[in-house]
Amino acid sequence: MRHFLTLKDFTKEEILEIIDIAVDIKKDLKAGVYKKQLENQTLAMIFEKSSTRTRVSFETGMFQLGGHALFLSNRDIHLGRGEPIADTAKVISSMCDMVMIRTFEHSMIEEFAANSRVPVINGLTDSYHPVQLLADYLTMLEYGINEKAVIAYVGDGNNMTNSWMFLAAKMGFSLRIATPKGYEVDGTILEEALKMAKESGAKITVMNDPKEAIKNATIVTTDTWASMGQEDEKEERIKAFKGFMVDSLQMCLARKTAKFLHCLPAYRGQEVSAELMELHSDIIFDEAENRLHAQKGLMVWLDRQRKK
Ligand code: CP
Ligand code: NVA
Repeated sequence: MRHFLTLKDFTKEEILEIIDIAVDIKKDLKAGVYKKQLENQTLAMIFEKSSTRTRVSFETGMFQLGGHALFLSNRDIHLGRGEPIADTAKVISSMCDMVMIRTFEHSMIEEFAANSRVPVINGLTDSYHPVQLLADYLTMLEYGINEKAVIAYVGDGNNMTNSWMFLAAKMGFSLRIATPKGYEVDGTILEEALKMAKESGAKITVMNDPKEAIKNATIVTTDTWASMGQEDEKEERIKAFKGFMVDSLQMCLARKTAKFLHCLPAYRGQEVSAELMELHSDIIFDEAENRLHAQKGLMVWLDRQRKK
């Protein structure tokens, strides 16, 4: 049985297998075909943070695959009142077929998975957001962007950046990360990613100059400057990230055909200009929709692994 906690635990071939299933499922859906590949299965979704896309895509996806999804907010279940993670994992996994968790510390999800009898999916932790990267990768492929891509990530060294590093390391992309001083990526995660990159031929570089990162890039991407849980730091971050807003002027440095991705929610006038969001809205909202298809692919893949 496999869990989906970070992309670092997956091989390039496995990531491609998940994407292949997602592509088929998307094709079927567009043709009005609903294959009940997870009939009678239940996905428990534990949310300790807010969500629009993750909740809607997992819940809808599970329904379309013939199963059911349970929304469990930590305000409603005993986990939020101090019931141990291990006990919660044992109980939920004795009744459900898969669990998706959005939480703060990554160690919470690891502890849950260690005590779960069913696959656990990371729906975002403070450290990683791997399901988002499956959708991002699917979107890149749909727009004809392959392993030769040069990706520029401009902004906070956060859960999205960490997941981009592992996607790049596994698939062999070039990834340039520009963060303000003091907001760099986690050094341990960077080292791990660099080690993996050596095997795949990926090139990961970190810098503090957004222009240097964007120059000749195929994809430019960013994320909020203040992630969930960092609301109190918002004002000081807005000051620290001056010069890091991705706008049309900065995009001019990228290749002519370069695309802009954003995992959303976007804060126009902070990490991205309203104009750039508008210019690239097609790909950005395809990226959001692909959360549904990519995660359906992931759930079907995890179910197949479990039955092997
Ligand atoms: N991108 C993303 O995960 O969105 P939500 O926070 O709305 O789920
Ligand atoms: N880095 C952001 C991603 C939101 C999808 C956060 O953790 O809030």
